[in-house]
Amino acid sequence: MGYVGRSSNGKIAGYGALDVVLEGLRRLEYRGYDSAGVAVVADGVISSRKKSGKLNNLLVELEENPLPDSLTGIGHTRWATHGGPSDQNAHPHLADGGKLALIHNGIIENFAELKLELVGKGVTFLSETDTEVAAALLADIFRSKLNGDVSDGGLTRAMQLACQRLEGAFTLLAVHADQPDVVVAARRNSPLVVGLGEGENFLGSDVSGFIDHTRRAVELGQDQIVTITADTVEITDFFGAPAEGKEYHVNWDPESAEKGGFASFMEKEIHDQPDAVAQTLLGRSDIHGRLTLDELRIDVELLKSVNKIIVLACGTSAYAGQVAKYAIEHWCRIPTEVELSHEFRYRDPIVDGNTLVVSISQSGETMDTLMAVRYAKEQGAKTLSICNTNGSTIPRESDAVLYTHAGPEIAVASTKAFLAQITAAYLLGLYLAQLRGNKFQGEIKDILADLGKIPAKIQRILDNEGQIKDLGRSMADAKSVLFLGRHVGFPVAMEGALKLKELAYIHAEGFAAGELKHGPIALIEEGQPVFVVVPSPRGRDSLHSKVVSNIQEVRARGAKTIVIAEEGDEAVKAYAEHVFYIPEAPTLLAPLLATVPLQIFALELAQAKGYDVDQPRNLAKSVTVE
Ligand code: AGP
Repeated sequence: MGYVGRSSNGKIAGYGALDVVLEGLRRLEYRGYDSAGVAVVADGVISSRKKSGKLNNLLVELEENPLPDSLTGIGHTRWATHGGPSDQNAHPHLADGGKLALIHNGIIENFAELKLELVGKGVTFLSETDTEVAAALLADIFRSKLNGDVSDGGLTRAMQLACQRLEGAFTLLAVHADQPDVVVAARRNSPLVVGLGEGENFLGSDVSGFIDHTRRAVELGQDQIVTITADTVEITDFFGAPAEGKEYHVNWDPESAEKGGFASFMEKEIHDQPDAVAQTLLGRSDIHGRLTLDELRIDVELLKSVNKIIVLACGTSAYAGQVAKYAIEHWCRIPTEVELSHEFRYRDPIVDGNTLVVSISQSGETMDTLMAVRYAKEQGAKTLSICNTNGSTIPRESDAVLYTHAGPEIAVASTKAFLAQITAAYLLGLYLAQLRGNKFQGEIKDILADLGKIPAKIQRILDNEGQIKDLGRSMADAKSVLFLGRHVGFPVAMEGALKLKELAYIHAEGFAAGELKHGPIALIEEGQPVFVVVPSPRGRDSLHSKVVSNIQEVRARGAKTIVIAEEGDEAVKAYAEHVFYIPEAPTLLAPLLATVPLQIFALELAQAKGYDVDQPRNLAKSVTVE
């Protein structure tokens, strides 16, 4: 949040910058966070307070140590990526001797080299965050290039020059004590909107932050800088060239604004998936296609000596683990077992110092998985957590962590975290293949290039979701739905069934397609809906032709066949009542695409039944009991 207002006595109609910013943070609370902070400019100084934990902790802090009245301020709720949740790592971060405050959403990819450069200039850092590096860079430029001269655009010019040095995804907001009536902001691959008021202007990650004050909004484009005062909004590119923002009227009510205009968090999060995959890939490979997972902080020699991988997870996360198994075994030739956490420690598993135990958990608090990880550690295994919640218990108790960057997942039924988990597992598998020489660098680069195309392909599926939505609504009376898949399509089928169970409370079951004739085919009767996830015809033909045979088998017995197939796959048409085409992708990466129609189907069917898709009955977002 950012705000600049104007009035003689430091308040407008009884409120000041702090009121607006805190109110906005409360509105943005749904975005999830693990710490929060504010900074205001008053009496020629920056005053700032920040606390880890819920927003209320900050409010208590502000009660005890109030800030001066001010008409210029910024505020931030953090979803940690670099550096765990703590007071020190919370934003704003200060620089320039406390005269500059900065807040940031996103990931500065090149923060390590910038930090080295700044340390070389004598800058000292208090936190582990990439944000503090950005603040120090901005301050250094403001001082060394502009001599602190605020006349020549001052902070705006410094922000332009700083953004030319930054790589990655970022929304930045900065204030400086020497420019008391200005907030300067920048964005690249991360959201930022301007709210236009009378004698006051606003900035927010989305409109819900200022919707109580104004419905006039300006969307900022890529690589843009905006400077707001109480009466002006000036937009430029990163090189100072003037730019125009598109003004629009916000007609959302505050409630729907929190969901990005979607009817539910689940629908919003399904549509967040291109970004969830892109953010999880961001900053983890270099231009040569080499993976750079330094954040793992696990001894490379140990990773080279791993002779078995055990994946531990529950529910949807376990299906992500099953997809990972196919990829890791194919790329690394390391035997990989996928275990349900709650089964693992009761079966006397074979674990030793050469076993890498990879837990997958969105919340990082699932007790079944936490207990299984503890057990694995007692047995001498090295443990690595793939997790979406920075600083949560499972990563804290693991030897290493590879965070997914899906952003907070509010809906109980997991969607974007699932795709991000699969993406992170692919990165881990490719990293192991790189370390152990199972793959040439060029091969890894090609796979990363294919992965880099996935977000846009997911977006294409979302842009054409009408057909699958209609089917979902039309099947609200279905009593049971079966899902078939082979190879990596098998865990996708399992996940599709789980989504339907969780959201629509109807019986749904996923099977390995090849298992059908070993019993389940007895379930097929006239009109029985059966989803079939078909592998690419461009892959191993045996896979494709066998699954097409499975469609024939169930169709011949009266099933209503609903097929997810790759664009151009004509072979399935003869046996499918409905075909949903997904963009081409290599066989191992296809789950990132094939899952999406199944998520949308379950959501629509459940909504057609009038169910609460964000909080399904009997379920909790994080199962913190065994
Ligand atoms: C998935 O939609 C469910 N909410 C559930 O199966 C979930 O995946 C499981 O409880 C594991 O949660 P975690 O990823 O937070 O460990």
